[in-house]
Amino acid sequence: MITVSAPGKLMLFGEHAVVYGFPCIVTAVSERLFVSIEETDDGNITVDAPQVTNTRFVDQAIADACDALHITHHGLHISTQSGFSNKYGFGSSSAVTVATVFALATLFQKNADKKTIFDIALHTILSIQGVGSGFDVAAATYGGILTYVKGGAVLEPLHWTMDDVSFVVGYSGVKADTTALVGEVAKKREKQKLTVDRNFEAIGNIVLKAREAGDRGDWETVGKLMNFNQEYLRNLGVSTEKLETMISAAKQAGAYGAKLSGAGGGDCIIALVSKTHVSDVVQALAGCGEVVSVEMNAEGVRIEQKEEKL
Ligand code: PMV
Repeated sequence: MITVSAPGKLMLFGEHAVVYGFPCIVTAVSERLFVSIEETDDGNITVDAPQVTNTRFVDQAIADACDALHITHHGLHISTQSGFSNKYGFGSSSAVTVATVFALATLFQKNADKKTIFDIALHTILSIQGVGSGFDVAAATYGGILTYVKGGAVLEPLHWTMDDVSFVVGYSGVKADTTALVGEVAKKREKQKLTVDRNFEAIGNIVLKAREAGDRGDWETVGKLMNFNQEYLRNLGVSTEKLETMISAAKQAGAYGAKLSGAGGGDCIIALVSKTHVSDVVQALAGCGEVVSVEMNAEGVRIEQKEEKL
């Protein structure tokens, strides 16, 4: 029997443009999803996932991992437990997929490296969702803060020292439909290709600048770049009144910068705040949304517990 956990994620910079090949910056968050697997001898695969409405990610992850890693078994029992609500958009599908693949690889001693886990999990996610850059799979697998390019073309850990600043997260109360929003942006691009592509390029440049500023600990610049990134997301049509209200509230309370995180349409905003202003920003966001207490830069998929069969 093995229990593993994988972290959720938040997009710091570069959403939507990343779907078109531009880099993004993603962080793993401290909220984790747990998967336990034991081999049985009844030939069946049973999945106990009380917090999810269907088990298709787990089912497909098992099929894909067994196929890719040549795992043969006599039956499996899998149970999942999420430490976070899937309403926040922290990426429970990718976390459960990565955790399932990693748990199977470890239980059956397949010695698979992180890139192999990532590739299998990404294949699972894309076969179900159809669209997506895979940034969430990267965060769940590798953890930390990463520069990421679609498909895992770039997977580069960033070593940001954030002693004097924090990201404060606020939930808008609305669940975002990522697939629909990615589709809407694609439709907009069909109609206004030049404008939308310029937008993506600008976002791509912001990502590169943010990376440099973060590397040198220039948080004021990182905050400004978040505000620029938000302007381009607004131009793409994925922001909402509610998100804008929360972003303004955070900035008025002293945040260096703030933006939506993820597809838009709802889910969360993130604000970059000096430690001295955290309580002001928390209070401001609590007045117009739900503050989610979560840390960035969390560890990637890991073993929690392993029991040898007697
Ligand atoms: O809605 P989320 O948190 O899954 O973020 C989606 C980010 C997009 O760039 C819009 C899509 C993607 O797969 O990268």
